[in-house]
Amino acid sequence: MKKVITLEQAIRQRHSVRSYESKSIDEKISDELNREIEKINSESGLHFQLLLNRPEAFDSFLARYGGFKNVRNYFALVGSDDGTLDEKCGYYGEKLVLSAQRMGLSTCWIGGSFSRKKAAYEAEPGEKLCLIISVGYAADEGKAHKSKDFSSVVSAQGDIPDWFRRGVELSLLAPTALNRQKFLFIFDGANTVSVKAGRGPFSGVDLGIVKYHFETGAGKDNFNWA
Ligand SMILES: Cc1cc2nc3c(=O)[nH]c(=O)nc-3n(C[C@H](O)[C@H](O)[C@H](O)COP(=O)(O)O)c2cc1C
Repeated sequence: MKKVITLEQAIRQRHSVRSYESKSIDEKISDELNREIEKINSESGLHFQLLLNRPEAFDSFLARYGGFKNVRNYFALVGSDDGTLDEKCGYYGEKLVLSAQRMGLSTCWIGGSFSRKKAAYEAEPGEKLCLIISVGYAADEGKAHKSKDFSSVVSAQGDIPDWFRRGVELSLLAPTALNRQKFLFIFDGANTVSVKAGRGPFSGVDLGIVKYHFETGAGKDNFNWA
């Protein structure tokens, strides 16, 4: 029987996996993933898609150089090309990553190590592909990334409540491009939190990912985003 794990356990268990087994994803699991994608798309207006058994975009120098092996399935993160696309893809993409983790699958966010030309996805007029996330059964489990300290990603006034600490703790476990962890959580001493991302490619995506982790650790009812 499948062991059910919590969202927090999924966060603690997740590492980027770049090498996959060649077996196809069970149909029951891919149906579950597609249901999750439908929910995300109807809530967010995004156009996420699951591509199964489509290795073409990884048959490239970029993918081999990036250490990817046997990538056959991926989520294409597509949506309206407006100023909010990157952050929305980060937030909802990480929701999908953690759902997949809870279903026993592994993932890796991929901004650069694939061929955009050969990627198979649909985009309506006005939409664009932000990036993709590989998904499948891990051939190797990956490993925990190096992490910054709590104090180097926080600016806070007054006593720091437990919920804030938990939010930051789970944010430090989030995937970020090149493991930059360029974010700063600012606490006003009451119940308002803001988070700033440094500049760089995919910094908007990183911001969305980290916000999802923070909400999971802190509990949405305990605070408001500034
Ligand atoms: C927006 C984004 C883009 C990424 N692009 C790539 C990529 O092109 N190639 C790659 O090998 N890893 C990529 N990664 C994975 C990061 O290197 C990885 O998340 C980071 O090193 C932390 O490791 P972890 O995910 O195992 O915790 C990307 C991650 C994010 C969030």
